[in-house]
Amino acid sequence: MIKGRQIYEGKAKKVFETDDPELLIVSYKDDATAFNGKKRGTITGKGVINNRMSNLLMEYLQDKGIPAHYVQELNERETLVRKVSIIPLEVIIRNVSAGSFSMRYGVEEGIPFDTPIIEFSYKNDALNDPLINDHHILALKLATAEELNTIKDLAFRINDELCALWKECGVTLVDFKLEFGRCSDGTVILADEISPDTCRLWDSSTAEKLDKDRFRRDLGGVEEAYREIMARLTKKLAEVNK
Ligand code: TMP
Repeated sequence: MIKGRQIYEGKAKKVFETDDPELLIVSYKDDATAFNGKKRGTITGKGVINNRMSNLLMEYLQDKGIPAHYVQELNERETLVRKVSIIPLEVIIRNVSAGSFSMRYGVEEGIPFDTPIIEFSYKNDALNDPLINDHHILALKLATAEELNTIKDLAFRINDELCALWKECGVTLVDFKLEFGRCSDGTVILADEISPDTCRLWDSSTAEKLDKDRFRRDLGGVEEAYREIMARLTKKLAEVNK
């Protein structure tokens, strides 16, 4: 596989072409941002952890029948993925109140929901990723009704699988953000990453935060939290795959 020119650089990753038009290389950085880039920093070793964790979780989901862009880990920071055109939606699933949900609706953090909530944001930094609903998505032609149904179905299935897996690790999956993409044949598959940058992961017994909120909220122990959550997942998957 030949690594070609860089076609994109985001806040946490770079994307490169390859000699295969259907495949791209994603490279994970240690850069961390929050609040739409207003807060910036570095989390040493984050790129390595997020690359590995996202690949492990996507492989796990693929084994459960969820279509995802993950193809092959190339090295500590780089992964081969299927080329997709990203649907400009941040698909958020919430199991427990936290973050912007708690702020917007005046609900304290940590209240479990009876059933998971799905939310969509329009992925548009210039507009600050505004919250939108199904009707907005169709009116703005961000996705078709059929694509939206597929996205919802996949997002809830992913939530079921990941809640169960994290529970085994002694971790509550509070909420997370997914992105989906269209393949050249029009199929919708899971893309982007699943990592402590994109999930809220709380220790099940102490509610200690083991995710990027430690950086967003200046709680300290950021690198340690990333290492701890990675260690728990690796240990559990080693048992599962025995
Ligand atoms: P929120 O409570 O700030 O809306 O975040 C919900 C989830 O989405 C949380 O697990 C963090 C994740 N997230 C991202 O992955 N990227 C983002 O830009 C934001 C705002 C949240």
